[in-house]
Amino acid sequence: MKEYKRFLITSALPYANGPLHIGHLAGVYVPSDIYTRYLRAKGKDVISICGSDEHGVPITLKARNEGISPQDIVDKYHSLNKKSFEKFGIDFDIYSRTTAKIHHETASEFFKKLYDNGDFIEQETEQYYDNEADQFLADRYITGTCPHCGNENAYGDQCEKCGTSLNATDLINPKSTISGSEPVRKKTKHWYLPLDKYEPFLKKWILEDHKNWKINVYGQCKSWLDMGLQPRAVSRDLNWGVPLPVENTKGKVMYVWFDAPIGYISATRELTDNWEKYWKDPDTKMVHFIGKDNIVFHCIFFPSMLKAEGSYILPDNVPANEFLNLEGDKISTSRNWAVWLHEYLEEFSGKQDVLRYVLTANAPETKDNDFTWKDFQSRNNNELVAVLGNFVNRTLILTQKYFDGEVPELSELTDFDKETSDKILKLKNKVENSLENYRFREAQKFAMDMARLGNKYLADTEPWKVIKTDKPRVGTIMNISLQITANLSLILEPFLPFTVEKIKKFLNFSGGSWEMIGQKDLLSAGHKINKSSLLFEKIEDEIIEKQVNKLAQTQKIFENTTGIMEQKDTISFEDFTKVDIRTATILEAEKVPKTGKLLKLKIRTGVDERTIVAGIAEHFDPAEIIGKQISIVLNLQPRKIRGIESHGMILMAETGEGKLTFVSPTEKIPDGCTVK
Ligand code: MF3
Ligand code: ZN
Repeated sequence: MKEYKRFLITSALPYANGPLHIGHLAGVYVPSDIYTRYLRAKGKDVISICGSDEHGVPITLKARNEGISPQDIVDKYHSLNKKSFEKFGIDFDIYSRTTAKIHHETASEFFKKLYDNGDFIEQETEQYYDNEADQFLADRYITGTCPHCGNENAYGDQCEKCGTSLNATDLINPKSTISGSEPVRKKTKHWYLPLDKYEPFLKKWILEDHKNWKINVYGQCKSWLDMGLQPRAVSRDLNWGVPLPVENTKGKVMYVWFDAPIGYISATRELTDNWEKYWKDPDTKMVHFIGKDNIVFHCIFFPSMLKAEGSYILPDNVPANEFLNLEGDKISTSRNWAVWLHEYLEEFSGKQDVLRYVLTANAPETKDNDFTWKDFQSRNNNELVAVLGNFVNRTLILTQKYFDGEVPELSELTDFDKETSDKILKLKNKVENSLENYRFREAQKFAMDMARLGNKYLADTEPWKVIKTDKPRVGTIMNISLQITANLSLILEPFLPFTVEKIKKFLNFSGGSWEMIGQKDLLSAGHKINKSSLLFEKIEDEIIEKQVNKLAQTQKIFENTTGIMEQKDTISFEDFTKVDIRTATILEAEKVPKTGKLLKLKIRTGVDERTIVAGIAEHFDPAEIIGKQISIVLNLQPRKIRGIESHGMILMAETGEGKLTFVSPTEKIPDGCTVK
């Protein structure tokens, strides 16, 4: 493996048109931060670059909708997002922005060089123009009838009903989504980067020379390259972006995906006069951290730009992640289905490391993964509290108690002592190997194994019993436990920086590099430690329920504004037939005391009589619904609600405003009839 002299770590520049959510952190920024912190701890020359991506059509549309300028939008989200990153300890060397002057200059120089070289193809085409909005329309902003399936709401680039990819000009009855008017065709000139020309280079560089890339990344590149590349437009008709540095091109700007990756270069320039060392010396290892939707831009488009320019290095790796889902559903900004970082910071103040930990433990490294609040709770309670917090706390407390806060002397070592200490170095090597290969969840697990090692050591040596008979032996045990704790503060630093700061304060231990991990004398005998407090606290059910309810609530608000909920994912017929829906009659109904929301119902199902608890007390008077025929899910797994076992579920229709009605047969029929 090549020995690099310095490292240039980039993290995808997030669009400054909305707040950041847990998907961003999990997919890109936590892994890039872990990697950067690790390299820093090793004493490497490393810089970590990020900033806001502030151009592109969506930002202009959001501004139009809100009646403010695009600059207002990006100003707002740039500062919000910058703050969120800081508070989560995502430690960029610079967080710049693509509206910065230095970026416009850098991007213009870059474009101009390629333009002057004759690297672009110039071409005139016809495109849809919105006369009312006075602008050309990206395909995405035109809707119309799909020529294949008749779907009236197909987009100009794709019909989401039949999946066909389209050109806007294929649509029947096209309509601008910006003004609603019918767009007209208009001639316009654009510049294209002929990606096909770079195909042989890309094939060799990726498919042959970078077989070590993650399979999801390599696979996506291969399939693009196998399909064959087309020239890609690098200009747009728009008045928001970096103006083309070419004469007579008023109203034209660079395509956002042309200027944004150059943002990495501009930000480096802003950071240091030495920027060319990082970007042009082949002894620099450049790594792009991104999400999977960015792969083609970072592995195909940007490298082709860099290759055309000629003086820049190419990335050594692009460890892209898959997506993080939330409670089984795709994270969606427009549906407000997300955990927003600025909200988490308010509601879980001081618990940044908990989220960092959970997102890494569950990182979507090889496939899409799911974040659930239950998992968040159990990882906090069973891992951070019960393993890490417990070990560190016991070690510190026992040291205070038995040795007055002084690191005791080592006396004779048992084989078990030696084995335990030796394992520290082994864990260092494991963590290191995982990190070098961008396997962050595995790395964090190995780092936590050091806390597990410590817990096991205390459990097996039982200093609280031995203290009655052999204080010197307890000195040895506590010394070793304290060395493990100090080693933990080094090995956990890339993952849990806030926690490590606390541990170091408790230990009265500062500094320490990565290479010191494994040492058995990080703290010398006689060293005084400080008073400690708990590192983590248990998260109770109520807190988690509150978050789950909040999500359900935002979902409701969304349904209210649109009236109708979106179609859920399709299921197979077989899945459908698993649900046993029957007609049934309500025999008895009473309020469940002290709940306000719940009714306890006695139901005749045709099969039996049973109890079902339903959250409908705010909508119906118990007396009114007795005798009513309804539909129920018969075979739902029974569950206890407020101590009452509920056997099944009443089917209700719910409007956007939250009004409920029973789903009842339109004429009286026997109970127990199947609904299908
Ligand atoms: N703004 C893009 C996104 O959020 C990422 C841009 S990465 C860069 O998907 F390379 F262009 F900077
Ligand atoms: Zn269609």
